Amino acid sequence: MIYLDNSATTLIKPKEVLKAVNSAVTKYTANPGRSGHNQSIMTALQIEETRRKTKEFFNLKNENNVIFTANCSAALNLAIQGSAKNGGHVVCTENEHNSTLRPLENLKQKGIIDYTVAFQTQAGGIKRLDIENCLKPNTYMVICNHISNVNGDTADIKEIGKMCKEKGILFLVDAAQSGGHEKIDMEADNIDFLALAPHKGFYSLQGLGVLLIQTPRALSPIMFGGTGTNSLELEQPDALPEKFEVGTIPTPNILAFSGGLDFVKENFNIIHDHLDDLTTFLNYELSSLPVEIYTTTENSRGVFAFNIPNMHSNEVATYLNEKWGICVRGGYHCAAKKHEALGLLDRGAVRASLSMFTTFSDVQKLIIAIKTLLKKQKLI
Ligand code: ALA
Repeated sequence: MIYLDNSATTLIKPKEVLKAVNSAVTKYTANPGRSGHNQSIMTALQIEETRRKTKEFFNLKNENNVIFTANCSAALNLAIQGSAKNGGHVVCTENEHNSTLRPLENLKQKGIIDYTVAFQTQAGGIKRLDIENCLKPNTYMVICNHISNVNGDTADIKEIGKMCKEKGILFLVDAAQSGGHEKIDMEADNIDFLALAPHKGFYSLQGLGVLLIQTPRALSPIMFGGTGTNSLELEQPDALPEKFEVGTIPTPNILAFSGGLDFVKENFNIIHDHLDDLTTFLNYELSSLPVEIYTTTENSRGVFAFNIPNMHSNEVATYLNEKWGICVRGGYHCAAKKHEALGLLDRGAVRASLSMFTTFSDVQKLIIAIKTLLKKQKLI
């Protein structure tokens, strides 16, 4: 089996993550922040340490503004719904995932906001001007997917963040695909909200998202419930993280993320270069064949999209799985606007997504499988 679906979730976990999960289910099993006994405090200290590490990794001002959510979609929903301004306008990009597009569409259909999708005018990425051209006098938020989960296209978040600051517009970055792979500095890049999917770039577990909040005054809660604090009051506490974190939090997933942060911090450049080398190799090899490629050579970040002429992407994905045991994702990757922009609404794309644990030999086998398919289709 060759697993090339790491953008859906990472298959292999590093030892730092495995050790952290083991400690979460053997040692730190009490509910953090719900009782005053030693077991609860022990677990709470581990959670606090994870918040501190996250804050440092992304240069966020306050570790209490690291909010743990059910997944990245929940983090994006909190940022989008919690900041919605009646009569306001939002700009997002063609790279957005449905976890951004659907909450925006829902707010639009309720008559609360309007939004515009910015399309990129240059191959490879969304630039400041692409966003600037969509702004309206009532635009209160810009949302940028940092790295497309479809083909690795990027957004120039530094320049866009600068523009948002100049114009007093909130800036939300969906870092589901870039967190762990790219350096993100919330302070320097003027990011108000950053959403993460730790099971991707931090090699942790499914069932956890994170929203990092630099500008809490712009956000209201969208969920209400128990926090373990101010229990006699019926109003949600105003202090963070309790304002936005309700119910028992998933300690094993949070500690897995903590292990993932250690792994990524220790190996950041190695991971970055490994993904770059493998994606460049794949792109170079397939470029000489009659394969339709949607990933530019500049976007060598481990997400690679392609099609075989005259075949539906799902047909190719099924062939690779059944004949070669190669796991890739075909179809639309929950990102309708990206497929619209790429002209792929009729057949989607085949996506091979790599990880630190993908080898050159894995990629070579994919290339051999594709060549065999091309021969079968009489294309070479
Ligand atoms: N968003 C994930 C993907 O790209 C699940 O496959």
